[in-house]
Amino acid sequence: MSFELEINKNISKEELYELILPQINSIVKDENNFVANISNITSVLKYSFENFLWVGFYFTDSKNKNELVLGPFQGRIACTRIKFGKGVCGTSAERKETIIVNDVSEFPGHIVCDSMSKSEIVVPVIKNEKVLGVLDIDSAVHGNFDETDSKYLNKMIKNIIYIFPDE
Ligand code: SME
Repeated sequence: MSFELEINKNISKEELYELILPQINSIVKDENNFVANISNITSVLKYSFENFLWVGFYFTDSKNKNELVLGPFQGRIACTRIKFGKGVCGTSAERKETIIVNDVSEFPGHIVCDSMSKSEIVVPVIKNEKVLGVLDIDSAVHGNFDETDSKYLNKMIKNIIYIFPDE
């Protein structure tokens, strides 16, 4: 399999999402291994957007359901476990809401994994009303994420939700 994505820096963020979402759908459609698919999704996102510093999934731990555990990611080493309600990831998982943080230093309880991270978006992965995990994206640029990211990342999760195990 080969996957080529040319980043045309003149296109808008919206246009870039419109290009990569079908490609992500196609990657997932052709492979039924969950870890392989999630790994490739993090890579496509990380290397499509020049301001994405860290892209990864945290999954709800199967034994301890109020805790997230690190899944496939692209970027520097990250903390492995985050309790529901803690940090941006745990808050998103607890509230079942997408959270956009323009300046991580202003988010109470933000968990620092990479000191270069300045802004962050966390999108919960919800299936059958259960939080299966979160998608976390960090940027080295303040205020990098907005409603366009929220809209398309939520759409992406919705498109691929069928690959997630039910629990
Ligand atoms: N900043 C996150 C922790 C995960 S790392 O950014 C990869 C948080 O506050 O939940």
